[in-house]
Amino acid sequence: LNRLISRRHVLCTGAAFTAISALSPARTAMAGPTEDPFLLRAAAGQAALRPAPYGSTDVWSYNGSLPGPEIRVRQGDRIRVLARNGLNEGTTVHWHGIRTPNAMDGVPFLTQDPIPVGGEFLYEFDALDAGTFWYHPHQRSSEQVGRGLYGPLIVEEADPIRVDRDLTWMLDDWRMTGDGQIATDFGSRHDAAHGGRIGNSVTINGQIPDRIAVRSGERIRLRLVNAANARIFGLDFGGLAPVVVALDGQPVAPHAPDSDVVVVGPAMRVDLVIDMTGKPGESVTVTDVFYRDLEYRLVDLAYEPDRLRDAVPDWSMELPPNPLAEPDMQAAKRHQIVFNGGMMGQMMMGGGMGSMMEQMREGNMWFINGEAATGHMMDPLLVLPQGTSHVLQMDNRTAWYHPMHLHGHSFRVIARNGQPTRHREWQDTVLMAPEERVEIAFVADNPGDWMFHCHILEHQAAGMMGIIRVD
Ligand code: C2O
Ligand code: CU
Repeated sequence: LNRLISRRHVLCTGAAFTAISALSPARTAMAGPTEDPFLLRAAAGQAALRPAPYGSTDVWSYNGSLPGPEIRVRQGDRIRVLARNGLNEGTTVHWHGIRTPNAMDGVPFLTQDPIPVGGEFLYEFDALDAGTFWYHPHQRSSEQVGRGLYGPLIVEEADPIRVDRDLTWMLDDWRMTGDGQIATDFGSRHDAAHGGRIGNSVTINGQIPDRIAVRSGERIRLRLVNAANARIFGLDFGGLAPVVVALDGQPVAPHAPDSDVVVVGPAMRVDLVIDMTGKPGESVTVTDVFYRDLEYRLVDLAYEPDRLRDAVPDWSMELPPNPLAEPDMQAAKRHQIVFNGGMMGQMMMGGGMGSMMEQMREGNMWFINGEAATGHMMDPLLVLPQGTSHVLQMDNRTAWYHPMHLHGHSFRVIARNGQPTRHREWQDTVLMAPEERVEIAFVADNPGDWMFHCHILEHQAAGMMGIIRVD
């Protein structure tokens, strides 16, 4: 892996210099309620992931672009997307992190039939929350997302914070073969039992980037979206001081990152405000250092020769909160959720060992409260009465990270290893470290059957999912 990463560097530095000034994907205005819905077509296509002179890569993408079109609306707008399936297999579109009615959640067999080959499905819902979200299939996600089916969904606040530029970076990594194609070893049991499908080439908005032009004095809102199957990013912005203003689309009190890097687990989003405090002509290197032994240069931010302003602006970074129901901590019912499985874990110490061994013989590797689930139809893990408050005490008894995602709701992350969190952040995907205990709280206010799963897509495929029913 190390060798392949360093080869990527050779590719980058060896390529002719191109300043990528606007790495934001093409934007799409949403059609009004009386107009035709926005057409989103999933199909096989090509993408220039690698810089010239290298050839293009066969991918699966939306509307022939990678990432798919940025769907950008105002809070309160109605989103209407007609998804058309040009693949050779069934698919769906899941709207990750934004609250939708259950029937619009895009989970095959659970909330809809898969869209058949050549078929279509109309997704239609109101954008209740402002923020940074994304969309991707929920059918055979490891391969469909892993081949490039994803795109950003941005819901603008009625009154957004002031910045000079609003950029979206969809981060992804790819497992490429020597001839620049996607390795076909999807479903590898080794990946599933370890940290998932980690790639050897990292892209921002579908390109292996070299430099991004910035201006001295400029204030950028940078929306990071991790679309990788399994890679956890930990970005170091050199001498810059990014401020975290939203997590998973939900505003948080503006603060410096909790660790020395900006951590973005699979499916998670982080909105940053960054003041470009360097001098004209300088450049700063953004490095991904989460797996310290695989540290590499992600991209350079290159200052243009002219300056935009001299002093750091004093504009507010505080985003207005979304209308989320506040959990009643006194009345909240507590539920214990235990994760087991994978290599090097302490599964043998848990109860129900015999049953887990039995399920492992059937190919499952990860367990939630002793059960592995691989389809999208299963008995619910929890049944929660609508409108009631709940705390999930999640206990990661494995040797691996897990970004745990709940559909249809945002939750507050209230404690880690028994210690209250500083920001009580709202998230829809929470990254749990090996052996970590995390408590989340939410109001079960969105009726339906909702997926609760690890967003390392290979863990999900090997059993790490369940259903939480609200009724
Ligand atoms: Cu991003 Cu269940 O999905
Ligand atoms: Cu996992």
